[in-house]
Amino acid sequence: GKPLKVAVLGCGSVGSQVVRLLEEQAADLGARVGAPVELVGVAVRRLDAAREVEVPEGLLTTDAEGLVARADVDLVVEVIGGIEPARSLILSALENGASVVTANKALLAEDGPTLFEAAAKAGRDLYYEAAVAGAIPILRPLRESLAGDKVTRVLGIVNGTTNFILDKMDSSGAGFADALEEAQELGYAEADPTADVEGFDAAAKAAILASLAFHTRVTASDVHREGITEVSAADVASATEMGCVVKLLAICELREQPGGEEAVSVRVHPAMIPRSHPLASVREAYNAVFVESEAAGQLMFYGPGAGGAPTASAVLGDLVTVARNRREGVTGAGESAYADRAVLPMGEA
Ligand code: HSE
Repeated sequence: GKPLKVAVLGCGSVGSQVVRLLEEQAADLGARVGAPVELVGVAVRRLDAAREVEVPEGLLTTDAEGLVARADVDLVVEVIGGIEPARSLILSALENGASVVTANKALLAEDGPTLFEAAAKAGRDLYYEAAVAGAIPILRPLRESLAGDKVTRVLGIVNGTTNFILDKMDSSGAGFADALEEAQELGYAEADPTADVEGFDAAAKAAILASLAFHTRVTASDVHREGITEVSAADVASATEMGCVVKLLAICELREQPGGEEAVSVRVHPAMIPRSHPLASVREAYNAVFVESEAAGQLMFYGPGAGGAPTASAVLGDLVTVARNRREGVTGAGESAYADRAVLPMGEA
């Protein structure tokens, strides 16, 4: 078939692994989708920055707008993160007729509907499996495999940095500050760890999970959010005495309202869970999502929730889906039809 021409926006830890996999697996990917997969450009902020991979000669550019405006680009992979310029670039890519794969949880949680509408209007794909829990396939199962069931609750450990910190506090008795310092030394936490430790990153992921699980639009501002900065060594010790462990949980659930209607509640906060619960066994920087549904019962999805290569794995999976959709002449996901369920403000009744 006609080559699938791919532009990558951003070449940080995820972007560089996307570029590496695209180069190394080019032949296999091409065979899998029935057309050559060709990297045609990589947009970066600085041409001379240090990078994990060597980007092929001539592909690097600082002109991201120019790259997404190219008429020959079929797919734009956005791995810059943050709201702007990511949003404008995604919207231009769709307007210019490209499909989009993104890992941008903050943008999807803040302004997903704008992106979904633009994709629908353009008749193009918008996939984002990498936005929640890195390599763990969780959005496709919620959107597709479980679409015929009724999901009633989703409990997630969806931030690796905070899980590492809480696990360290649990196993060594360390306080929050010492555990955070270790997470930073090991490269888990950012130099500015606010988005992780204050729960913003988990809240964005919770909004995305709840939207798909309950077929309802949930944005980050609907999520009650409390981080882990106030969790003390004494809190962790008393949880241990009670046979529990402290985890930062994203809790998305359907709650019955006084009139019998069901409303969506989404919260992120530190919670004590019994050591016998499957989520208690999630150690270090791993992620897991525990799903309860009417017919399937309880399911747990577990794996690496962050990191360049694991996140790139999810991005490449979406790329294959986009390429297959193109071959079939269809568009996929974008946004499914939404039910009109109420969303409780800040997760509360
Ligand atoms: N900072 C995030 C985490 C990276 O620690 O899980 C993945 O979104």
